[in-house]
Amino acid sequence: MLNEEAGASSQRKSLHGNWTSRLAFILAVTGSAVGLGNIWKFPYIAGQNGGGAFVIVYLFCVVLIGMPVMMSEILIGRRGRRNPIATMKLLGEEEGGSGHWQLVGGMGVLAGVLILSYYGVIAAWVVAYVQKSFSGVFAGASAGEVQAIFDSFTGDWIAVTGVFTLFMATTVWVVARGVERGLEAAVRFMVPALLLLLLALLGYSINSGSFGAGVAFMFTPDFSALTWNSILVAMGQAFFTLSIGMGAVMAYGAYLPQETSITSATSAVVVADTGIAILAGMVIFPLVFANGLDPASGPGLVFVTLPLAFGQMTGGVVFSSIFFVLLAFAAWTSAIALMEPAVAWVVEKFHESRARAAILVGGITWILGFGTVFSFNLLADVKFLSGTIFSNVDYITSNIMLPLGGLLITVFAGWVMCRNSTAEELGGAGASYRAWRLLARFIAPIAILFVFLSAIGVIDLTGK
Ligand code: TRP
Repeated sequence: MLNEEAGASSQRKSLHGNWTSRLAFILAVTGSAVGLGNIWKFPYIAGQNGGGAFVIVYLFCVVLIGMPVMMSEILIGRRGRRNPIATMKLLGEEEGGSGHWQLVGGMGVLAGVLILSYYGVIAAWVVAYVQKSFSGVFAGASAGEVQAIFDSFTGDWIAVTGVFTLFMATTVWVVARGVERGLEAAVRFMVPALLLLLLALLGYSINSGSFGAGVAFMFTPDFSALTWNSILVAMGQAFFTLSIGMGAVMAYGAYLPQETSITSATSAVVVADTGIAILAGMVIFPLVFANGLDPASGPGLVFVTLPLAFGQMTGGVVFSSIFFVLLAFAAWTSAIALMEPAVAWVVEKFHESRARAAILVGGITWILGFGTVFSFNLLADVKFLSGTIFSNVDYITSNIMLPLGGLLITVFAGWVMCRNSTAEELGGAGASYRAWRLLARFIAPIAILFVFLSAIGVIDLTGK
């Protein structure tokens, strides 16, 4: 559906190269989407927000807000073919809007660095758990013992810093090498392997005796327990888990060949990401109830439930090690994407090499990461707004910056960009285009605004 006038934008080239195939792009976006958000964050915030009703709100947000935002981001990225800041400026001017739209890109770059500053620390816990699993400390351990191992490790800031530094260094290294090499291969193997292991774990949790209780917790909605704040958190999680609202998918879209269908790529990513989160919940909650644990216990939830389950299985030492290796990979492919907007911006803006840009962005992120490292030890008692430094960075990025970014992105794609431009990127003006446009112009922005406004004043910054 390419037309003549659009020639200029379809011929634009990215400075950073292109994905080698449609599958490569889907894998890369899936790699960014599937990560700690699905396996670590989803179960613990669903647990803190009462389960069923929260999960349903989250699923609604994924479909009604997540899909149109992701499609908008990809189409904007592909049309601009630059880093998110430059793309928003370019298209803002080209579409008769304003260059100030670049501020949306700027907020995204900042959100990416802030998210990575805590994401990298949680990823470091995962990496440490590879070694712990392998050493056999979890074999036959009781719930209390597993909890004690978690508390003593996260309480040891020197140990955490060591692994965090290693994780950030390897992330910088991959980002420095560029888009094509390394990343595709990692994702191609990681996502299916993770899925297989989760299915094996599901088999275990089905037999744990509390499968019914776990599944009921996740799927029986008690809407009376739902507060505006938990609706805001559910919406924030939809953004976080799909990697949207901050320009990461926009940056990846900039490397997408012109002929790939954005609609079908988005559907594939959303199905894979949501499926893995639901699967993780179906593994975790039965284990929580089978072991008399508290679903609302917070960020330590998977680091206690899973080692406990592995500790009781034959071959648990091996399975547990493999599981944490895969989760570390999943976190790693997300971390790479979190850095991409900032790195692409530094490269284009300051004419730096990718390597130097990656080191700079990685270094800044590393320094910010100490806020999270210390939130579980030295500064654990420093509490304001939603709690520790970690919970504030998390709350503000996921529940405020990402939805706000998503709101502005859909307004831009739906109202500022002309119909021809978006129809061209989305492959013509058929039924799926009309559905996207309805969602992007009305449903998604109004829903986001509505949740924001309702939560203002009732925002309960207690982190729950
Ligand atoms: N989606 C990732 C996860 O679920 C986390 C994330 C949020 C992310 N925003 C991102 C990853 C941007 C890459 C890019 O773990």
